Parts: sequence; structure tokens; C-alpha cells
Amino acid sequence: MRIAVTGTPGVGKTTVARRLADRRGVEYVDVTQEVREGASAGHDADRNVPVADIDALEDSLPDDGVLDGHIAHRLDADYAVVLRCKPSALRKRLEERGWERDKVRENVEAEALDVVLAEALAEEIPVFEWDTTDATPDETVERVAEAVEEREERHGVVDWSAHIGGVR
Ligand SMILES: Nc1ncnc2c1ncn2[C@@H]1O[C@H](COP(=O)(O)OP(=O)(O)OP(=O)(O)O)[C@@H](O)[C@H]1O
Ligand SMILES: [Mg+2]
Repeated sequence: MRIAVTGTPGVGKTTVARRLADRRGVEYVDVTQEVREGASAGHDADRNVPVADIDALEDSLPDDGVLDGHIAHRLDADYAVVLRCKPSALRKRLEERGWERDKVRENVEAEALDVVLAEALAEEIPVFEWDTTDATPDETVERVAEAVEEREERHGVVDWSAHIGGVR
């Protein structure tokens, strides 16, 4: 099974995906790193990041593994784990990384608007959505591992609509 661990930057994908791969004894793939190392098709000048080459990425991915990245759900995955974080808490996590205001704002806004969740649902694969805001990484990994095992489908668990006005 190809499992995508996806979500807005800072929600906890890497923390969870590495441990999930260890637990299942399957390969862990850092999708963002793959894009940086060549699976790219051009450069996004506004954001100063490479643009992912989805076809090139798909060619190099294991059928059985955990894919970590905010575009992981687009890579012909069989199951998507969409991690979420309350916008105000995500803002704090991203500010603590020293990210620029605009970059923080863009991502907090995307989280508030369910952008990654909507994309994952559009892939028509089972989606398990989990809110990391008040959960520990241990709890999260435990619950996500169980969900993957059962191919549990669960979404619509958070509603950040009351926070949208506060993201700017
Ligand atoms: N329930 C949780 N699950 C995962 N991480 C959590 C949780 N609660 C708090 N955190 C913390 O949130 C941070 C998430 O960072 P992490 O690098 O895993 O995010 P990411 O989604 O991979 O970000 P990026 O897209 O920038 O790579 C870590 O410091 C982690 O300890
Ligand atoms: Mg990461």
C-alpha cells in the first residue's frame, strides 16, 4: 500500500510519516526532498521553490511505502492521511521556524480553507483526517497506524471556518 501523509506545512507530516514507516517496516519517502533533488519541472519564482514533476516522481516511488509531503496525495497513493492543525497553533509552529510573514500567512490561510483536504478527497482514495493540535505525536502515530491498518475513512473532523477571519 502506498500511503500518503499529507497536509499543510507544519502539521506534523514528517514526525508521523517516519514513525509510521518504521512501524510498518516499509520505505519512507521524503517527497519534498525528491523534488529538490531533481523530480522538478521548473521553478516557482514567487515562492522560490522548485515545481514538482508528478510523472517523474511517480516513476521513482515504491508501491509499498509512506510518502511524506504536502503533495503526497497526488502521487497515485492508495490511502491518504491528512493531518490538520488549528490555524492559530499552526501560525505559532511556523513562526517558531523563523518563516517569513507572507509564507506563514499563505500556509495558515491554506490550512483554514481545507485546501489539502479538498485536494486529497478529489483523488478519490480513502482519506483519514486527524487533528494534531491537541494530540501528542505518540497519540497521533498510534491512531494513524490503526486507521491505516483498517483502511478507515474519516473526514470532516475539523472546522476552521470561524478562524478564517483571523488568518491575516
Ligand atoms: N500530534 C502531533 N503530530 C505530529 N507533530 C506534532 C504533533 N503535535 C505537535 N507536533 C509538532 O509539530 C511539529 C511538526 O513538524 P513536522 O516537521 O513534522 O511538520 P511537517 O508537516 O513535516 O512540515 P513541513 O511540511 O514543513 O515538512 C513538530 O515540532 C512536532 O513535534
Ligand atoms: Mg516535513
